[in-house]
Amino acid sequence: MSCRCGRAAQMAKRCIDGHQGAFKTPTLREVANTAPYMSDGSLQTLEEVIEYYDKGCRPNQWLSPKIKALNLSAQEKTDLVEFLKALSGEVTWYGKEEELKRTKPLAIASGS
Ligand code: HEM
Repeated sequence: MSCRCGRAAQMAKRCIDGHQGAFKTPTLREVANTAPYMSDGSLQTLEEVIEYYDKGCRPNQWLSPKIKALNLSAQEKTDLVEFLKALSGEVTWYGKEEELKRTKPLAIASGS
């Protein structure tokens, strides 16, 4: 049932307005296996992500003034990409989600 006084709608609007341009910072775990990157999928590789940050991201009305161009050296860029890759392992279950759902939980996980 919806609220008749319109207060809930007003609060929801305020909440939505207050979060325009805000993004939840995503986990970097397994990031080498989760391209394309950013909420719009506009960056295809980790190298592109580093270039994006190096240039100070894309100018937009919500960008924090604290975000500046980094002017990284080629070595620093390579190091950052390698660091991001190090956060990723060999994931064996991508593309096998349906198969996994049919698999019995491990005895140790179910406690039996
Ligand atoms: C050089 C330093 C940084 C590196 C290497 C880095 C790395 C990344 C990567 C790889 C992604 C894409 C994740 C994905 O799409 O799965 C990402 C997205 C993001 N990062 Fe960073 N990040 C850095 C600095 C920062 C800083 C300083 C902030 C916040 C102040 C930040 C906040 C975010 C947010 C909010 C997103 C999601 C953006 C969107 O969905 O469009 N990052 N970052």
